[in-house]
Parts: sequence; C-alpha cells; structure tokens
Amino acid sequence: MHKSVQDIINMKKEKKKISVITSYDYTLASLCDKAGIDVLLVGDSAGMVMLGYKNTIPVTMDHMIMFTEAVSRARKDSLLVADLPFMSYQASIEDAIVNSGKLIKAGADAVKLEGGMIMADTISSIVEVGIPVMGHIGLQPQTTVLSQGYKVQAKTSDTAMRLIEDAKELEQAGAFSIALEMVTKEVSQIISDSISIPTIGIGSGTGCDGQVLVAQDLLGMYDKIKPKFAKRYMNLSEDIVKALESYREDVQSGMFPAQTNSFSMDENELKKLREKIGS
Ligand code: KIV
Repeated sequence: MHKSVQDIINMKKEKKKISVITSYDYTLASLCDKAGIDVLLVGDSAGMVMLGYKNTIPVTMDHMIMFTEAVSRARKDSLLVADLPFMSYQASIEDAIVNSGKLIKAGADAVKLEGGMIMADTISSIVEVGIPVMGHIGLQPQTTVLSQGYKVQAKTSDTAMRLIEDAKELEQAGAFSIALEMVTKEVSQIISDSISIPTIGIGSGTGCDGQVLVAQDLLGMYDKIKPKFAKRYMNLSEDIVKALESYREDVQSGMFPAQTNSFSMDENELKKLREKIGS
C-alpha cells in the first residue's frame, strides 16, 4: 500500500524530513518511486519542462489529467499529489471541486493549489468533499509571476506577517500540508514552527519539514531557468546528448545495428525465398 496523507502528516510529528519530487511521466515516476521519494508531485511546472511553455499559465486540466494518469501507473509506494492548473479553481468553488475530482479520478491522492487566505473557502470546500489539499504560498508561479516575476518572498516584516497569517488560515481551512516557494529561510522556519501540518519548501531553506525540487532541475535536464535554490545532482542533459551523438555516428558509419541487434531467417527459408525471387 502506498503512503497516505496521514503518513505524511505523521512524518512532521516524528521529526522525519519529507522528500518530494515533481513527476510527469511513467518512466521517471517509476524511478522516483523506486528511490523511496515520499511524495510525487505532478506539478504544473510540467507546462515548462515537458511542454516547452515559458510559464505555467497555458497548462490545462487535460494536460494535468494525462500527466497524473501516467504517474499513477508508475507509483507503488509514494503519495501522489497533482496540481490544479491556472483558472481551474479560481473562478468558483464548484470549478475547484469538479476539477479536483478529475485529478483524483486520474489517480492522484490529493491536489495542490496556489493562494493564501483568499483560497481558504475553496480549500475547505474541497476538503469537505473528501479530497486532501496541499496549499502553496510564497511565490505563486500562476499569478505572482504575472505581476512581479520570480522574486524572493517575505523579505519585510509586513510581507512576512501576511505569509504567516496565510499559512495559519490554510491550516484552519483543512490543508494537510503547505508548499512554501522562495520564502526567506527565517520566515519558513517561523511558519513551520507555528503550524502543525508539514511545510514543503522550494528555495525556502532548511527550516521546512520537507523539500521539493523539479526533477529536471535535480537531474540537470532543463537549462532555460537555473534557479539558485535548485541543487543539481547530475548533468544528465550532457550525458544524453553524448549518447545521442554516438548513436548518430553509429548509424552514419553502419556500426548500428550490429549482428546482436538483428534478427535472422532460417537458412533453408532464405534459400527458398531466393529461389522464389530468382536471385
Ligand atoms: O509545479 C511545480 O513544480 C510546483 C513546485 C515547484 C512546488 O508547484
């Protein structure tokens, strides 16, 4: 049985750090699950790293359903959380519930949505119908980016106070955890200490109860944006390009396919064939 929302909440109580990674496709999700990652997040960052959009705004419910289905076929042990994309939950609570239901039907265990206290009613309505919700405050790529660009959040005491209030309201509304994106490390620590649900940080320091990274950043596969907070554990894009160049050269020189990559006919059958075609 895979991890549950309650298992993730318990990890905070047991002072165990929570590992979260974005996943969008079957192959990589299988590897993340095998590596023992606690939570697979089908993030709407898929719009950028999988579909090549310059931000997450164009991502649709159909995209998110397809990615969620693929990841759900792969996961065995991890919890699966899927992002509600831009404008799938902001216009009405009904939209939010219907679209959360679609992601759950696609295989998610919980949904994530962006927004502070303004989203409290939406979150509590989704939770009331039985769907767990992860909040997302600090930098909110779906909206903050439209007005401010990618900026560190909670740098002043006023903005920090607002964020702390947001976190408390989200907990009150029934969120089971909160992603904190690009929040100053001091404020992340204060938030993590003042709520009982886990905080999952991205670019928000070590005080969070867990950490999330975009898989393509961690693996060194996406070069368009190189966030300061993303630790690169390998440079997979270099290795992939090298492998593809070797393949191209092998095809050009006739080294590929080798005998071992080919299939043969029975010799007698080949002889008969040659007689039939007169060669
Ligand atoms: O879409 C995403 O990948 C996210 C994480 C960065 C938290 O929301």
